[in-house]
Amino acid sequence: MAESVLLLVITKIGIALASRAVAEASSQFSKYVRQLIELQRSMGRVVRELRVIHGVLCQMDIRNCNDPVYESWLDEVRKVAHVMEDMVDEYLHQVGQDHDMGCCFYLKKGLRKPRSLLSLNQITSNVKEIEKDLAHLSETKNRWVPMVNNGDNSSLNYIVKSSQALANSSRLLDEEDLVGVDKNREILQEWLGGEGGECSVITLYGMGGLGKTALAANVYRTEREKFQCHAWVSISQTYSREDVFRNIIKELFKDRIDVPSNIATMDITCLEDTLKKFLQQKKCLIVLDDVWTPEAFDDLSRTLICTDKSSRVLITTREGDVAALASQGHTLTLESLPEDKAWDLFCKKSFSRETNYECPEDLKPLSEEIVSKCKGLPLAIVSVGSLLHVREKTVEEWRRVNDQLTWKIINNSRLGHIRNILYLSFIYLPTYLKSCFLYCSLFPEDHLFQRKKLVRLWMAEGFIVEKGASTLEEVAEGYLKELVNRNMLQLVERNSFGRMKTFRMHDIVRELAIDLCHKDHFGVQFEEGKCGGSLQRDGRRLVVQKLKTDIQQSFSSVHGLRTFIALDKNMPSFNLLPLLSEKSRYMTVLELSGLPIEKVPDAIGDLFNLRHLGLRDTKVKLLPKSIEKLSNLLTLDLYSSDIQEVPAGIVKLKNLRHLFAQKWNDQFGRVLHSCSGVCITKGLGNLTNLQTLQALEAQDESVRQLGDLRQLRSLRILNVKGIYCERLGESLVQMPFLSYLEVGASDENEVLMLNALPPNLHSLSLRGRLAKGALLGESPLLQAVEQNLHELRLHWSQLREDPLPSLSRLANLTILGFVGAYNGEKLDFLTGCFPKLKELSLWDLPNLKQLEIKQGAMANLERLGLGNLSSMVEVPRGIEFLLPLQYLDFGLITRDFLALLRQCPGIAGMQWEHSLRD
Ligand SMILES: *[C@@H]1O[C@H](CO)[C@@H](O)[C@H](O)[C@H]1NC(C)=O
Ligand SMILES: *[C@@H]1O[C@H](CO)[C@@H](O)[C@H](O)[C@H]1NC(C)=O
Ligand SMILES: *[C@@H]1O[C@H](CO)[C@@H](O)[C@H](O)[C@H]1NC(C)=O
Ligand SMILES: *[C@@H]1O[C@H](CO)[C@@H](O)[C@H](O)[C@H]1NC(C)=O
Ligand SMILES: *[C@@H]1O[C@H](CO)[C@@H](O)[C@H](O)[C@H]1NC(C)=O
Ligand SMILES: *[C@@H]1O[C@H](CO)[C@@H](O)[C@H](O)[C@H]1NC(C)=O
Repeated sequence: MAESVLLLVITKIGIALASRAVAEASSQFSKYVRQLIELQRSMGRVVRELRVIHGVLCQMDIRNCNDPVYESWLDEVRKVAHVMEDMVDEYLHQVGQDHDMGCCFYLKKGLRKPRSLLSLNQITSNVKEIEKDLAHLSETKNRWVPMVNNGDNSSLNYIVKSSQALANSSRLLDEEDLVGVDKNREILQEWLGGEGGECSVITLYGMGGLGKTALAANVYRTEREKFQCHAWVSISQTYSREDVFRNIIKELFKDRIDVPSNIATMDITCLEDTLKKFLQQKKCLIVLDDVWTPEAFDDLSRTLICTDKSSRVLITTREGDVAALASQGHTLTLESLPEDKAWDLFCKKSFSRETNYECPEDLKPLSEEIVSKCKGLPLAIVSVGSLLHVREKTVEEWRRVNDQLTWKIINNSRLGHIRNILYLSFIYLPTYLKSCFLYCSLFPEDHLFQRKKLVRLWMAEGFIVEKGASTLEEVAEGYLKELVNRNMLQLVERNSFGRMKTFRMHDIVRELAIDLCHKDHFGVQFEEGKCGGSLQRDGRRLVVQKLKTDIQQSFSSVHGLRTFIALDKNMPSFNLLPLLSEKSRYMTVLELSGLPIEKVPDAIGDLFNLRHLGLRDTKVKLLPKSIEKLSNLLTLDLYSSDIQEVPAGIVKLKNLRHLFAQKWNDQFGRVLHSCSGVCITKGLGNLTNLQTLQALEAQDESVRQLGDLRQLRSLRILNVKGIYCERLGESLVQMPFLSYLEVGASDENEVLMLNALPPNLHSLSLRGRLAKGALLGESPLLQAVEQNLHELRLHWSQLREDPLPSLSRLANLTILGFVGAYNGEKLDFLTGCFPKLKELSLWDLPNLKQLEIKQGAMANLERLGLGNLSSMVEVPRGIEFLLPLQYLDFGLITRDFLALLRQCPGIAGMQWEHSLRD
């Protein structure tokens, strides 16, 4: 949609005309004050005009869409906006250049870099042209573009009128939307639970939008605990055998300590063998979601030959020939909802809990009409319902939506029925959400979005603007919530203390969004061998899903690219970074996670607009000095790379908010130095915008300066010596927002003596010896974090005294982990302790002989892992009291202990895992 393009350009011009940029420009071009002022005035006029056009677009009635005159006018507007964006980026690029010679500098160097530099004068004259174009476009609109809503001022301004106040009531979608499925659920449960028979394949069949996945997910969640192992894998259209196997293995081994380290590089035979070995003699549930071709399953079935007779494979599909794969009589065909159920679902979505989901009498006729248009498709009903939920509950409003729905369905046969309904939801999105929404569709089908990663990308793209006292991250999170409430994104998982964690886009919703992206030149997802993904001359965003040839051969023009995201970890990457650094000078987001890149070229420093540099899981060891020139950088992500040090100039990146620079040595964190970080000494305190700093190698100087980083949310600091601790504590309490903290000692004899911690800490990990009594009695450490701490990990603390009595003051704890934390012989979990704890793991406690769990202790525990407790010779007492337990694991036990476990009546009814000591 052109309005989101305009909004981005408006925001950018705003940045260019903000006082900071103006001041920089004035000193930069001090000899050309006259031209500079002229340019700035020109930009001011352009932005005013763009704002007016944006306002008009937002008020445009839906009935104008599809009008060819209007559409081509819109296309012209978009083109001009894109040219303007180029000019603003060019201008900001010039202003930010690290020199004080003004334009002459470029003229002299012009011979060497003619391509990359336009002079100030040239920018000015281009912006003047844009002014003229815009004036012309405004004129032609009045002359040529018919306005359906002319004269009807009631509908003006209503489409994108902020509906936030109403959208505010947060509600869960997904499972709640299962209406009228009780019978189907029962059938599935029965089929899954039944004993015997050869390995039973169950298929769930029906057209898109019927809620197959939601039903499967619901049943999966309730039934999986009855199986020894389970996996959910989305197949979708981008199927590759290896990837499916890999994903199944990853799912099966999730959170297990014996996960094979080389899954990523295994070939197909090896993957198959691993899987077979694991599945042997296990009762297993595997869900394959959205299978498109029967061949896909043929490959799998050979491997998934279940030796246990009660294993089950559940397949969801839209294709009849896939549905036919089911074992005799085990296909469940989903039908659309009957009238009454459709009505129930509609009411549940449209009206609030406070009114008991009742439809007001005066809205009934219109509501019935709207529901009938949805033809019993749950997705359509949920989509319209979520839309109406955030509108005023008046007859006028209802009529408006009904009219538009009618119009869309009748007038737009190009889109399928359901897509027309979804399209309406899109039209009603506020502009600021449109870009965020479209962006998600650039990722592959079934892509799982992580909240924090997505938020960082949106920020870098410039979709997010600061609001009041909220940070960009907080605003972005609000957007996410709004998209979920409007059913444009689906919430998949929350973390252990209830925050949204992962999201997915419904495939039909995504298809619609892809269409829109294409129309607007918003972005392209490229997949070699599939048509559709080609980069236009002014393509702005490119997400590579599969690429076999060199990028230069595939894309002749990468000049205007702002965003490059590589999702194909096997794409040729040797030349990638040098090429993009040279050719795409406006680059804003570079996300290259997982590529085997070793070297970052000097030329990267020329990407002045770069705001996100993602080199996670690459082989990068060092960064060039030129990195210090990237003064707009918000995120530098070298998580799990081979990074050893960062250039001292990194402290010049004053806008940096998230710095990940850590290398893992042991992914389970059982060794003391499981990860290493980087040193930043001089000037660390200058990075005052930092929110994430992982991982910093402690030094006297850096610990001192840490206190200046008041915005920190997440800190991992390693190699801490005892003598730093007092200062570290002083620095930490100055960080009011810090919520994640990990402190690692320099060696196992160094004592961590922290006497103070910031109050908002949610998650604390202390890796190193703790002083005697550090966690006892009125420990200041615990007092500080008592209210908010959700997660506590103690590694290598080597405590002599039982810490549980004092730790149980932390009543809000949901995760507790000990690794080598305690040297005593006995641990008791008393009645009523840790009422919210969901996860407990106790590893490497060499002297622990006895573990006792009293009835009513940890009443909500879901996962318990015990490992390498070499002195333990009896099964933990009271383990049978842990009723809601979903996962129980005994790691590195002896054969004798295994025999004890097998005889133990307390766990006879539970599923548990084990691994043996060699
Ligand atoms: C349009 O607005 C004017 C005043 O702002 C009002 O008098 C008139 O009734 C409105 N017309 C419609 C159709 O709502
Ligand atoms: C949304 O709700 C929060 C409290 O839950 C409130 O502070 C905020 O003002 C509301 N926003 C709007 C736009 O009503
Ligand atoms: C759209 O529908 C209206 C009536 O609702 C009709 O007058 C118009 O011709 C239709 N336009 C197209 C392109 O079908
Ligand atoms: C930190 O910022 C101050 C003031 O902006 C500046 O004088 C100093 O040189 C900076 N330090 C480093 C190491 O960049
Ligand atoms: C647990 O958290 C709640 C809500 O954040 C808070 O009100 C309560 O005081 C906390 N409990 C303890 C024991 O700190
Ligand atoms: C078990 O723990 C001890 C120390 O508690 C450690 O020395 C040993 O290496 C661990 N064993 C294994 C197999 O990890």
